[in-house]
Amino acid sequence: MSTLGIPHLAPELESALVAGLGEVEEFLVSHVEGEYPFITEASRHLALAGGKRLRPLLTLLSSQFGQGISKDVIKAAVVVELTHLATLYHDDVMDEAPLRRGVPSANARWDNTIAILTGDFLFAKASDLLADLGPEAVRIQARTFERLVTGQIMETVGGEGDQLAHYLKVVADKTGSLISTSARFGAMIGGASPQEVETLTIFGEQIGVAFQLADDVIDIASESGISGKTPGTDLREGVPTLVTLHVMASTNPADSHLKSLLSKPIEDEKIVKEVLAALRVHPALEFSRNRLHEYSNGAKGSLDSLPDSPAKAALVSLCDAIIERSA
Ligand code: IPE
Ligand code: IPE
Ligand code: MG
Ligand code: MG
Repeated sequence: MSTLGIPHLAPELESALVAGLGEVEEFLVSHVEGEYPFITEASRHLALAGGKRLRPLLTLLSSQFGQGISKDVIKAAVVVELTHLATLYHDDVMDEAPLRRGVPSANARWDNTIAILTGDFLFAKASDLLADLGPEAVRIQARTFERLVTGQIMETVGGEGDQLAHYLKVVADKTGSLISTSARFGAMIGGASPQEVETLTIFGEQIGVAFQLADDVIDIASESGISGKTPGTDLREGVPTLVTLHVMASTNPADSHLKSLLSKPIEDEKIVKEVLAALRVHPALEFSRNRLHEYSNGAKGSLDSLPDSPAKAALVSLCDAIIERSA
């Protein structure tokens, strides 16, 4: 496994990516600076805590289908990570999550007001950089953000009718949208052909959905030492996921107690533990992992029209790495 989480990267590509991600890191941290030391501290809090940098990585990788990494590609990579970071500040308020990237969330370290306003501050910083990339990029980002927020709202509001269809739409909107745009920006700003830009946009959407399905499995199956987040957050918030929706659809009488516990947010920590233990051995978890495999394979298949190259191989490996994460 390489430092980027992609197994078997071609050495030349790996050094280009490592150098590019280094530039992204430097740019990100120096760009996130406020007028007051407190604002700088609050807005760098999660950036400095780590994170996988999946979205910048996809931007840099997608640029390989054009002329590769340039100053503007780096800027685009910083824009998508800043946007992601801002959504994490807000998401942790909504999900009342105490832990993020292995450190206290901004809402836990300070409070909801600071977390919300710092998220807004990061959006402002992202927009400032984005303006350098021109009106087309600004419009794409605006529409991406509309989708992301739509997904977050509809997750909260819930859907009528087919719950699984509602969930998959929420996932595509809240997570697929920005991951798709991360790939699209890299290809577009890197100078790939319009067809390749389109292919990578679709790929980004599909790997984004797979990524969120993996995240939902991780919320149940992983310990916080690995994920940097608190397991069971979705259960406490009563957010339906592929795993819990599958349990809710079960007609097996043995599931009726679990179903009644899952039918509303779970406040009692003892019950959260009990439900986590039950879900970890429930066939719904394996079913979800299998669905995740299908989505990941779909993402791989969407790359078929691209010419073989180390970057294409890396994108295929990234699909495997996502499955690996939730295993
Ligand atoms: C977390 O994203 C939110 C989701 C969309 C699942 P990541 O899992 O990419 O979070 P970091 O950037 O590594 O912290
Ligand atoms: C977050 O989804 C998606 C966005 C931030 C847009 P989750 O709420 O499932 O992500 P985590 O588990 O908190 O990272
Ligand atoms: Mg969350
Ligand atoms: Mg959430």
